[in-house]
Amino acid sequence: DRSALILDIFAQRAKTREGRLQVELAQYKYLLPRLSGMGKSLSRQGGGIGTRGPGETKLESDRRHIRERINRLEQELKQVRQVRSVQRQRRMKNSVPVVAIVGYTNAGKSTLLNTLTNSDIYAKDQLFATLDPTTRQLDLPDKQQAILTDTVGFIQRLPHQLVAAFQSTLEEVIEADVLLHVIDVSHELYKEQSNAVYHVLEQIGAKDKTIITVYNKIDKLPEDSALPARLAQEENSVCISAKAGLNLDKLLEMTAENLKLKAVEE
Ligand code: GTP
Repeated sequence: DRSALILDIFAQRAKTREGRLQVELAQYKYLLPRLSGMGKSLSRQGGGIGTRGPGETKLESDRRHIRERINRLEQELKQVRQVRSVQRQRRMKNSVPVVAIVGYTNAGKSTLLNTLTNSDIYAKDQLFATLDPTTRQLDLPDKQQAILTDTVGFIQRLPHQLVAAFQSTLEEVIEADVLLHVIDVSHELYKEQSNAVYHVLEQIGAKDKTIITVYNKIDKLPEDSALPARLAQEENSVCISAKAGLNLDKLLEMTAENLKLKAVEE
């Protein structure tokens, strides 16, 4: 089943404490209403999670333990989020603008973050290599500085409960000044993937943010492809290769420009 599968992949990839807490919480929340469906065979066996209270069936005690675990996880997450919110407030006070990278999974978000900030975060050719937002300092051409964060990869029809589970990761997106929407143009379904991302942005209320459309992996297109020239015509868009380092100057310029406009607006 799709949600369970996505959760399993998330669980393998979560690296920070917050990421792990979010996944575990989402897994338990997913499991709880499904426990009864597991049949009578489970419901009266001994040796479940912890011990059973008097007159409790195995199913009831399992449910109780899961609910307790959910409560504890929610508490822990709340604390982690408070710390993060304090950090965010400090950034806002110092008025460092925030640029968040969004995009379909495998579009090249981590690669772009690495190239732009010379860091070395996990980038592999697999789905959901990044689950936790990763934040780095970004130097812009006009001596401006910004904070660049990489976010969770979006997918088609992201199940609703997962959107909720990753809300705190997505908060980075909601509060960013500018979004870089990275699209893998070498993928035959890049338009569908791009629409899926817009859909999630809409779901989390970030659709009307300043978005720079970053068409990535142009190095993979055939040399005579007319696509880059056509896409570059679109408003606030740029064609790059994060891996081959093509046109990154232009991207940085556009980012600086958009941040300036944003600052004037406020
Ligand atoms: P998730 O964490 O799953 O959301 O993926 P991501 O969007 O962070 O993608 P990531 O940076 O991990 O890149 C996915 C794959 O695409 C890796 O194998 C990268 O090396 C490759 N890749 C990224 N950018 C480019 C590019 O400009 N050109 C080519 N040819 N490959 C690229």
